[in-house]
Amino acid sequence: MRSGTRFRLGLTHVTAHDSEWTVEAVKQVAYHVIVARDLFEPDNTQLLDGCPDAPIRPGERRLVVIDAGVDRLHGDRIRQWFARNGIRVDILSMRADESVKEWASVETVVDAMNAFGIDRRREPVVAIGGGVLLDVVGLAASLYRRGTPYVRVPTTLVGLVDAGVGVKTGVNYGKGKNRLGTYAPAVATFLDRRFLATVPARHLSNGMAEVLKMALVRSSELFDLLDSYGPALIADRFQGSTPELDNAARLVMAEAIHLMLEELQPNLWETCLERCVDYGHTFSPTLEMEALPTLLHGEAVGIDMALTTVIGHLRGDITPAERDRILSVMRRLDLPIWTEVLARPGLLDSALEDTIRHRDGRQRLPLPVGIGGHRFVDDVTADEIARALRHLAMAAGADTGVPIGAGVAK
Ligand SMILES: NC(=O)c1ccc[n+]([C@@H]2O[C@H](COP(=O)([O-])OP(=O)(O)OC[C@H]3O[C@@H](n4cnc5c(N)ncnc54)[C@H](O)[C@@H]3O)[C@@H](O)[C@H]2O)c1
Repeated sequence: MRSGTRFRLGLTHVTAHDSEWTVEAVKQVAYHVIVARDLFEPDNTQLLDGCPDAPIRPGERRLVVIDAGVDRLHGDRIRQWFARNGIRVDILSMRADESVKEWASVETVVDAMNAFGIDRRREPVVAIGGGVLLDVVGLAASLYRRGTPYVRVPTTLVGLVDAGVGVKTGVNYGKGKNRLGTYAPAVATFLDRRFLATVPARHLSNGMAEVLKMALVRSSELFDLLDSYGPALIADRFQGSTPELDNAARLVMAEAIHLMLEELQPNLWETCLERCVDYGHTFSPTLEMEALPTLLHGEAVGIDMALTTVIGHLRGDITPAERDRILSVMRRLDLPIWTEVLARPGLLDSALEDTIRHRDGRQRLPLPVGIGGHRFVDDVTADEIARALRHLAMAAGADTGVPIGAGVAK
């Protein structure tokens, strides 16, 4: 073998040096996020032909994994749609919420894939449910025979604007949120806000937290929309019962998804650890796991954003008026800005330490600058967190009855 020989195959390389070879290969990734309307109305064919990379032809069969809650509410019309279109389906209806976001649920999906005898080249699994169901099925599919395609149909707001549009899958392990996971995009995601008609208001607020996140770090226009229409959109369950609300629902969702994808695309595998989409996700993973099942994911994200808004304010990056406006929008979206878990001594410090471990030894903490901007910092101290917590307790006190100064770690 000649030393330094380099074989070039398109974008891939094999380089040989005596008894050592280096292989470099580039994997192209493409996936589709498609807005749909009334996906399971009898005459709608979007799921059949809406995505060129995941067509379904009459006579074919599919394994459909559906959140049991969604099955109860929408299962009949979903089954009828598949039957009407001549698609034979095996349906696995499984419980999917944060308390069962665990390895055993992945096994349940794998067992169903085995029993179905899936043809991994031609039979993408169809996942219909909230963020938990999508993450569980995505993880199972990405592991099954080292990668089986899947299609997502999110049914919650978190699913529609966040869990359904990125490339991450995962389940919790021990106290670690999403500790086991893969990067595995679905071939296609079909976004149908009709499902939101049955989502409880609390879960819509929960999803609004992820929309608010994008607004706070990327877009004052999106923030203005949330300020003007957020509560009405929740009350209307994004169904567009007036032209004005329909337009607002469409704009809010499109803008949130577009901003999210703009941030994700250049950094799909998260090689760059300074990600503004991590805003609200510094302290929240610990808060969420500590408070289980009290706090929903978006609620924990909301509390993290309230705290980091105050940190931004204390650093002079957020004016008092901006801070008050942000906290007021959070309240109007029915997002908590406080949880008693914050009162556990040292919890936020250890949450930050855990995040530092995930971010390769540095805080890389996105902090808001005004409304719609951000910067990354590495120098947040325990004293600063304690001070911000005191301020937040004061701001929250009126709502929560938390005495001023409670929750201060030191
Ligand atoms: N992979 C990612 O990039 C990503 C991004 C954001 C969030 N997530 C994950 O998503 C999860 C949160 O997702 P979620 O908020 O959708 O929670 P969820 O999946 O637990 O769903 C919330 C509840 O709503 C029910 N439900 C689902 N659709 C419904 C409908 N149409 N009508 C009535 N009830 C319905 C579910 O059964 C569940 O009880 C978290 O585990 C989080 O880690 C993942």
